[in-house]
Amino acid sequence: MTHDTNLDLANRARAVMPGGVSHELRYREPYPIYIDRAQGAEKWDVEGKRYIDFKLGAASQILGHAHPQVMEAVAAQLSRAPYTSDCHALEIEWAEWLTRLFPSAERVRFTGSGTESTMLALRLGRAHSGRDKVLRIDGHFHGWHDMLIKGAKPGANTAPSLGVPTAVTDLTVIAPPDLTSIAEILDRDPQIGTIFVEASGANYGSVPLPDGFLPGIREIASSTGHVLIFDEVITGLRWSPGGRQARDGVTPDLTTLAKVVTGGLPGGAVVGKAEIMELLSPANPRDGLAPPVSHKGTFNAAPLVAAGAIKAMEILSTGEVQAHADAMAARLRDGFNGVFRDLGVQALAYGDSSTCHLFFGGTSIDGLDAATIRRAPPALVKGLRNGLLDRGVDFMSFTSCVTGLAHTTKLVDETTDIFRDTIADLIQQGILK
Ligand SMILES: Cc1ncc(COP(=O)(O)O)c(C=O)c1O
Repeated sequence: MTHDTNLDLANRARAVMPGGVSHELRYREPYPIYIDRAQGAEKWDVEGKRYIDFKLGAASQILGHAHPQVMEAVAAQLSRAPYTSDCHALEIEWAEWLTRLFPSAERVRFTGSGTESTMLALRLGRAHSGRDKVLRIDGHFHGWHDMLIKGAKPGANTAPSLGVPTAVTDLTVIAPPDLTSIAEILDRDPQIGTIFVEASGANYGSVPLPDGFLPGIREIASSTGHVLIFDEVITGLRWSPGGRQARDGVTPDLTTLAKVVTGGLPGGAVVGKAEIMELLSPANPRDGLAPPVSHKGTFNAAPLVAAGAIKAMEILSTGEVQAHADAMAARLRDGFNGVFRDLGVQALAYGDSSTCHLFFGGTSIDGLDAATIRRAPPALVKGLRNGLLDRGVDFMSFTSCVTGLAHTTKLVDETTDIFRDTIADLIQQGILK
């Protein structure tokens, strides 16, 4: 147990890590909180302060922090063979679970993270289609790598980062979530071979997809021969045991997975049609290459992760956890909308599945584009985030929450009370009207 305060640690961190952080979204002014331990839907910082957690490991811990059965499985593997870089039985069992749960999963390849999953899926899409360009939807997030970063910031036609070559971003075409526009773009540009969609809509559904979008894009891709990839890094096993594709009955060619699918442990997976996935097989040479599509990764399907993931699959396969998480998110949304109503704030809490998003530009998001929905005054962003943290609630981003098994009605109602105090304070400060 450290005796450092959050400020002590921030000062040490800034001297050795850029901005003092390992992930840009963990940056916070005046300084971040440093978490010492976490259990269920709660966590405690190094100063002993407790937080109700709606970030849940960037949406990876749907079972709650340190779920006993998952931890037991990991602990058993830890003393057996945590990692040797060999084939092992657990990776097969884990892959079998995924093929049972996900309609698109005829074959599975494990990766090191969600970002690695989208990189690999795109390479497979390019290899299978024989075309280099990818169409992606405005504002959807697919990890931080060069090939799909353009378009991650809604409404911007450039990469939100220095160091990304235009030779690469020229291969990424951004489209609105509109089937007619997408069909026109595909028709105009024969170099596009792959289509990427975040299955929830941008940022785990903060910008929902229009009704009929997923079946519509499936139909377009099937008729034109484009490789259709659903990014289910968030939705996989969260929206339903088989992700959004199982819930909505729309099967992509490839699916990218991570977070919940790895039992909340580090890793990821690409699953998909055998015809495409077998390009990864060294047993099927093509064009003098064995395998035709190269993919390596030291920690792919690490036994320690596989052990925890299999236990998580077992627990999550019935759908009961997801139903509970969905109910808690619905209660949270109702609670927040009640606060907005009572305090006369023109804002909306909304969301699909086990999410709750906030919009402060009015009481409806119908017809609004991603850039409009996600725009918020910096004073509000900072005021809400710090106001909630000071009172002991942590959101996933300043306007979004995810829920899980460990959230109870008591914790949700306590959060609604804290939210009420925070919003009232922002009104008093003149930050919110
Ligand atoms: C939809 C989606 N795709 C890909 C990623 C990248 O995953 P990772 O952070 O594991 O690299 C994320 C991360 O939040 C995500 O939400």
